[in-house]
Amino acid sequence: MTARIIDGKAISAKRREQIAARVAEMVAKGKRPGLVVVIVGEDPASQVYVRNKVKACAETGIYSEKIEMPETTTQEELLAVVHELNGRDDIDGILVQFPLPGHLDEDAVIEAIVPEKDVDGFHPESIGRLVVGKDTFVSCTPAGVMVLLEESGVDLSGKEVCVVGRSNNVGKPAALLCLAQNATVTMCHSRTRDLPGHVGAADVVIAAVGRPEMIKGDWIKEGAVVIDIGINRLDDGRLVGDVEFETAKQRASAITPVPGGVGPMTIAMLLENTVMSAARSAGLE
Ligand code: GUN
Repeated sequence: MTARIIDGKAISAKRREQIAARVAEMVAKGKRPGLVVVIVGEDPASQVYVRNKVKACAETGIYSEKIEMPETTTQEELLAVVHELNGRDDIDGILVQFPLPGHLDEDAVIEAIVPEKDVDGFHPESIGRLVVGKDTFVSCTPAGVMVLLEESGVDLSGKEVCVVGRSNNVGKPAALLCLAQNATVTMCHSRTRDLPGHVGAADVVIAAVGRPEMIKGDWIKEGAVVIDIGINRLDDGRLVGDVEFETAKQRASAITPVPGGVGPMTIAMLLENTVMSAARSAGLE
């Protein structure tokens, strides 16, 4: 079998068009969604991500601001900015780009953002609501995974899903979202004893470990769906996922490429979360 390639770029472009149409409707009713992205320091990868987020806002009609703060910013200075943004009526979403410089406390920053503006879905209240199945902001990358599965016609009900990686912002919410769709979910991590066995038993594999090609193609069950969240840059400059793509493609029924799979979905979901927040605050739901 050779897998169908799940085209994240195309699916993301379609979602962005829908978002732009919704933003235009809201603007016509007097509400323009607004997002602020805060970046601290000079991390080059973060600079690129933030630039892309601001550009995506402009393309869909969302108002955005970028606040750049120096590497030497103190915790108090950063929290003061967050508090000010919490109180601004024209701002519906606050995103503080991670990672922060080492002297800053990321958890404290997340918790300082009012949950109503937590478009990253990182706040403990947002995660708690996800756990109990209440409407909430969902972390953008796992939210994008669910859209890719839905758009690819994958029904998770009763399926065996293996999530590899247990980060708070990706692996855990991905597992909860699959559970909410009635999948039987196995969460694997660095201490898992028989990773090939768990991956090989899965109808859907979601890889979010951040290690280049650690999931071998010959572990994948014939006909499984493979969602690769990893984006790893090799020494030779190539970008690869967490799954060995060429060999996995020979066994899977559908697979996301890296780049061009999950990556493009993340920003689309950030825009959706911002629009959802704006609609709520303006009573336009
Ligand atoms: N750094 C890498 N991805 C993300 C993200 O989705 N949100 C934030 N805040 N920082 C990130």
